[in-house]
Amino acid sequence: MPLITFVKPDGARLAFEMAGGDTLLRAALQHGIHEIYGDCGGACCCATCHVYLASEPAGLLPPDAMESEMLTLAAAPRRDNSRLACQIVLQNDMDELVVELPDRQV
Ligand code: FES
Repeated sequence: MPLITFVKPDGARLAFEMAGGDTLLRAALQHGIHEIYGDCGGACCCATCHVYLASEPAGLLPPDAMESEMLTLAAAPRRDNSRLACQIVLQNDMDELVVELPDRQV
């Protein structure tokens, strides 16, 4: 199971393991990561699940056109490592995923 470490804007870290098959959004919501909203429920049409990947596991697909378009609407600045948590599907053989949380989603 992949180890996921969320890094909050104040530097606080929260780590847990999550089974593959779920999205990073679902993992965050299940573990009370309040900095991720996911207003559209994972339909890739709100950009309130914006995160920065501090580590990128091997095999993770890059953002597709729809995700890239939605990232232009994110409230916090877009960076090269910006992703939408709803579009990242966890895999059991993934390396540790370090996820930095932006200071705002709206
Ligand atoms: S939950 Fe809306 S874009 Fe990810």
